[in-house]
Amino acid sequence: MFCASKKNLYLRRKFEIMMLEKIQNLLAEVEQLKAKNAEDIEALRIKYLSKKGEITALMNDFRSVPAEQKKEIGIKINELKNKAQEVINGLRQTLQQSDGEETNIDITRTAYPVELGTRHPLTIVKNEIVDIFSRLGFSLAEGPEVEDDWHVFSSMNFAEDHPARDMQDTFFVEAHPDIILRTHTSSVQSRVMERTQPPIRIVCPGRVYRNEAISARAHCFFHQVEGLYVDTDVSFTDLMQVLLLFSREMFGEDTQIRMRPSYFPFTEPSAEMDVSCTLCKGKGCSMCKGSGWLEILGCGMVHPRVLELNGIDSTKYKGYAFGMGVERIANLKYQVKDLRLFSENDVRFLKEFEAAN
Ligand code: PHE
Repeated sequence: MFCASKKNLYLRRKFEIMMLEKIQNLLAEVEQLKAKNAEDIEALRIKYLSKKGEITALMNDFRSVPAEQKKEIGIKINELKNKAQEVINGLRQTLQQSDGEETNIDITRTAYPVELGTRHPLTIVKNEIVDIFSRLGFSLAEGPEVEDDWHVFSSMNFAEDHPARDMQDTFFVEAHPDIILRTHTSSVQSRVMERTQPPIRIVCPGRVYRNEAISARAHCFFHQVEGLYVDTDVSFTDLMQVLLLFSREMFGEDTQIRMRPSYFPFTEPSAEMDVSCTLCKGKGCSMCKGSGWLEILGCGMVHPRVLELNGIDSTKYKGYAFGMGVERIANLKYQVKDLRLFSENDVRFLKEFEAAN
């Protein structure tokens, strides 16, 4: 009796040790599992976790574990089962992330160069113009490119029969003779004046449209920056001083300016302004056609009627305005011979302005 129970105890102990060893080995095995594809992973699942799998078999053996050992061995088997599940799930996830491909990534290989875009030369020049005027106290104003006749022409004192309204210059929006593509950004000046009382000090950059045949020297659209200053005691001298400061910032310290009388319906007096040639510094060269001067903008004192048409008392306030073509300024800075280059988006041309970005 004594002997039999001792033998029984010994066998039970041996069984328990065998179970623990088996769990230990399986755990070590499971932790090292590897798989190349979904089939491998499925095979592993079958091997360990399916009905006939090794861990399931272990759970069947568990039934014969004596009551005193059930708790300890039960916990260990559970840990093993969870671990196997976790490792197999992990393998599945890694496989999904690599999109099922067998990857062989060489992390020492040099990366592909990333092509960075560059700013368009007209954007660079426009930003520069706006920057200079914002340092002089002007703020930015923008408006729509599709406009009505009032803001482009009528409010700017263009007579009903002014040639600029002619079909040859203006693009009309079909079936709406009143709706047009703006031919200048003066329309933005009008929009600001009708809703703001002086002091007004703005620059209006933007694209404008004119019905012209496309060539190296003309295009059906181009870009302008116009400026407007309305306040009490504004004089033509103020205008000249601001434009001189602008020209020297834009083209260099030694730049000279000169004004020539001109005509615009919205300014009186009106002038065209030249800067000393940026290439020959006024000596005379092929760019300035020997004159030493380059025309860059139109300007003048805002016509009192324009102030009145836009709701500003012309007996109290005066103003000056100016307007320049961005392409023109860009040409003078970078000597671009053909206007069409600005809108063709040839990357070989655009890349030349990388350094100016
Ligand atoms: N609006 C004029 C043009 O498009 C430019 C300009 C603006 C001239 C303001 C004088 C004053 O040509």
